[in-house]
Amino acid sequence: MKPFLIIGNWKLNGNVLFVKNYINKIKNFLEKTKLNFCEISIAPAYTYLYLSNICLNNIQMNLTAQNVDINLYGSFTGEISIKMLKDIGIKYVIIGHSERRIFHKETNEYISKKFNIIKSNGLIPILCIGETELQKNMNQTKDICAEQIDIILKTQGIEAFDNTVIAYEPIWAIGSGKSANPIEVQNIHKFIRKYISQKNLKISKNLIIQYGGSINKNNMDIFIKQKDINGFLIGKASLTAENFISIVKKAEKIMSFL
Ligand code: PGA
Repeated sequence: MKPFLIIGNWKLNGNVLFVKNYINKIKNFLEKTKLNFCEISIAPAYTYLYLSNICLNNIQMNLTAQNVDINLYGSFTGEISIKMLKDIGIKYVIIGHSERRIFHKETNEYISKKFNIIKSNGLIPILCIGETELQKNMNQTKDICAEQIDIILKTQGIEAFDNTVIAYEPIWAIGSGKSANPIEVQNIHKFIRKYISQKNLKISKNLIIQYGGSINKNNMDIFIKQKDINGFLIGKASLTAENFISIVKKAEKIMSFL
């Protein structure tokens, strides 16, 4: 069985003290609890990734970067390369997040280049996809998701999706406190898996499809029980170690009954 992948996306939050306290609390928790069903990771800002890696010190949690550049080295002021992320022990890299698509005008083509550089350096992309509220109301969710996947299929082939994560994040549900309907989310996740399975069944079975959008410890139960929901990408509710730990504890418990 695939582990249920829970990632805390801290976005533009945190400081040195926050990182140290947070990881200490996770350490204390993991000293008492072995995770049998979940894999957990946090995505601090770039400035705290190295510190986080040192603080983690081989506990059962790994690190995710919130972004990466498409270049490996050279004259690209302000950018961070995949080699640098690899150098400090990062496992996952989030790309295509709607906040980057919207605020930084990242296109499907650009995101596809990021996907490629991550894969060719042996790290795991978390490809965020999802529709706006208007697109949802116009019944375009599946088309939008397919379009965001297609660009990678066309340029890199289905093999690129081997050992990768797709995070379905309806844009209207992110940070709004209004999570999507878990049954509707299952329906979209099933569509995504089927879309991939038409090209390669084995890759589709191994694909981890996370849901993201206002997930918290109170609304997670029905999501986790859905067959095609294999993890959560969590923003706001991951910003305290206590909340993050509550979510992980609950996920372990529910998964143990499935
Ligand atoms: P949220 O963020 O949990 O605060 O909605 C999710 C995300 O942006 O990944």
